[in-house]
Amino acid sequence: MKIKEVAKFLNTTPKALRFYEEKGLITPKKDKSNQYRDFSETDLYRLSTILALREIGVSIRDIKTILDNPELSITQYLDIQRSALFEQWLEMRDMIETIDQMLEKSTAPNSFEAIHQLANHLKNMKEIRNKWHDRWNFDEQAIDYDDHIKKEGHIFNVHEGYDEALSLVVEKVRLEPNSTIVDIGIGTGNLGSRFLTNGNKVIGIDQSEKMLEICREKHPEIETRKGHFHALPLLDQSVDAIVSSYALHHLPDEEKLLALAEMIRVLKPHGQICIADLMFADETHRKVVLEGFEKSGNRIAIDAIEDEYYADKSLLVEWIKENGYKVETKQLNDILGIICIYS
Ligand SMILES: C[S@@+](CC[C@H](N)C(=O)[O-])C[C@H]1O[C@@H](n2cnc3c(N)ncnc32)[C@H](O)[C@@H]1O
Repeated sequence: MKIKEVAKFLNTTPKALRFYEEKGLITPKKDKSNQYRDFSETDLYRLSTILALREIGVSIRDIKTILDNPELSITQYLDIQRSALFEQWLEMRDMIETIDQMLEKSTAPNSFEAIHQLANHLKNMKEIRNKWHDRWNFDEQAIDYDDHIKKEGHIFNVHEGYDEALSLVVEKVRLEPNSTIVDIGIGTGNLGSRFLTNGNKVIGIDQSEKMLEICREKHPEIETRKGHFHALPLLDQSVDAIVSSYALHHLPDEEKLLALAEMIRVLKPHGQICIADLMFADETHRKVVLEGFEKSGNRIAIDAIEDEYYADKSLLVEWIKENGYKVETKQLNDILGIICIYS
């Protein structure tokens, strides 16, 4: 096919096609006698991918990386791109909301102070959203994560009560048939898969590609999405229930509140949230438990607890109530609890 035909067929311009060629994204064969380009079927397929990726905001450099990297499938890349766009979208939304609030304050006397405060608040939010990184390397843990869920007989067992907690979450979430349930920090799918009944759709979100890969292998029916507690790759009010197990404690408490706000953003009215995680009832309880381990010389337990962010449940409950939701909690053992949120 000649350049003009290709441009017409793909609803673009010959100039754009020459530009992609110049950037090394395509190399159509050229007629030796007149240098006219001759686009093959493979070129057309490649071009339609390039055009689609440009349309969703992918840079030329990134397109080149995807097309040159046989390890990275287009599906995986689109998933990553969606996650990045959701992050940008949320940041833009925060900025627009801040502008609205600034405008409201701008006519009051000494408005600069209020405006300055709002700007600082926005800065803080951006920092919280951006500073999290996976210092536990879940990609590496993914391959034998399921084998490492300790059942019993350890000096300190973070997974004590694991099955019981997951079952309790399933029991607590009341669903109509054909509901959409999201499992955040789904890992290998142990909780989310329990909701694959009654025509339900389960979406598993995780920041770890490898965890998602294993989740897909074990449970192909689950739709996986790369994403973060701080920027869920979901539209507003789009899901009936949110569940999560053993994931939220990888965020410090102030970030947990942002994560709860994100969950509420994507939840339909009358939806439910149920979280099973490592948590203490409150700061006094944390102190008592840590002192107990100290007395028994259980350094392994103390180090494990201090390496993560076991929640102060009372703080989360207070936030949930302040935001107008009902909350039910149960402490299953010294370090494990569940929190269910209803409207
Ligand atoms: C200990 S595993 C729990 C997996 C699974 N929910 C379970 O109960 O077996 C924690 C999971 O949470 C994910 N995770 C941790 N922090 C996250 C974050 N900020 N956003 C999204 N996923 C996160 C990790 O990648 C990992 O897959």
